[in-house]
Amino acid sequence: MTLGQLRTFLAVVQAGSIRGAATALVVTEPSVSAAITALSRELGVPLTERVGRGIRLTEAGRVFAQYATTMLGLADRAGRAAREAAGRPGHVHVSAVTTAGEYVLPPILAAFLRQQRDLQVTIEVGNRADVLAKLLNEQADLALGGRPPVGAAIEGEPFLDNPLVLVGRPDHPLGSRRSFDPRLLSGETWLLREPGSGTRKATEELIAANGVEPGSIMNVGSNGAIKRAVELGLGVTMISQDAVGEELAAGQLALLRARGTPLRRSWYVLSRKDAPLPGSAQLFLAFLRSPATASMRARWSDPSRSLGRAGSESVSVPAP
Ligand code: PGA
Repeated sequence: MTLGQLRTFLAVVQAGSIRGAATALVVTEPSVSAAITALSRELGVPLTERVGRGIRLTEAGRVFAQYATTMLGLADRAGRAAREAAGRPGHVHVSAVTTAGEYVLPPILAAFLRQQRDLQVTIEVGNRADVLAKLLNEQADLALGGRPPVGAAIEGEPFLDNPLVLVGRPDHPLGSRRSFDPRLLSGETWLLREPGSGTRKATEELIAANGVEPGSIMNVGSNGAIKRAVELGLGVTMISQDAVGEELAAGQLALLRARGTPLRRSWYVLSRKDAPLPGSAQLFLAFLRSPATASMRARWSDPSRSLGRAGSESVSVPAP
């Protein structure tokens, strides 16, 4: 079994056909077929089967595809670690849940890369399930999420506060109240992120725990769209303070101080327990843990401070 065969097999999985895989890999169709045949022969079971004029994965093929993804991910990580050990520039792969990828990671990364100019970083943003899958499949060295890890394979630690705040339109009548019963937000339209979002789950828990009865629920699949919709008076929402610091400071959104909010949560950095991290990923982990990250955050998230200067101070990277 070779890495080339595994790559070819996964290209077939992704494209759903020999022809699609050949096009994606810029090789001939017979060479793709030969790789799949050789793999199936070595494993002693067929990985694909014919349906009409196309092919589909067998059950064995579906199971093997998960391992193939992990094997290629590990091979990539091993190659990066070896190149770094020989003094070549490192390349960190980070996977982040949406809110962290949009608002938390960019300023941290900007400051980190000012210290580590030779490093390359690849970021992938997705929902929690995708982010955890990337970590488990060896496609990400580190992941950022809004909840502690689950399962024995992943470890994680909180590295920043992640308060979730309730917000409404700038002239929302409850905006001037210091502390009020969350049930006063019954009857409102609540804007919720897409299913699978950590923010959505926390909001649903808040609604249920306080007996709030929303007038209606509007599903909106992006933080940016939710902020704009709330600003225009379409409803209220709960959202990470990291995502609305700027709008709160500018008076575009009103903070709604319902009792029990802000919800106290943390941002977590997650990694696999069983796989050594390349040196560059260790450096990034040390940077996340450093006081520099926490002090930077105060500037992009705290609505009472001026914004737009995140990361402008010099920060130092502690030794891993
Ligand atoms: P989300 O995750 O962007 O998927 O909602 C953030 C969180 O869990 O706090």
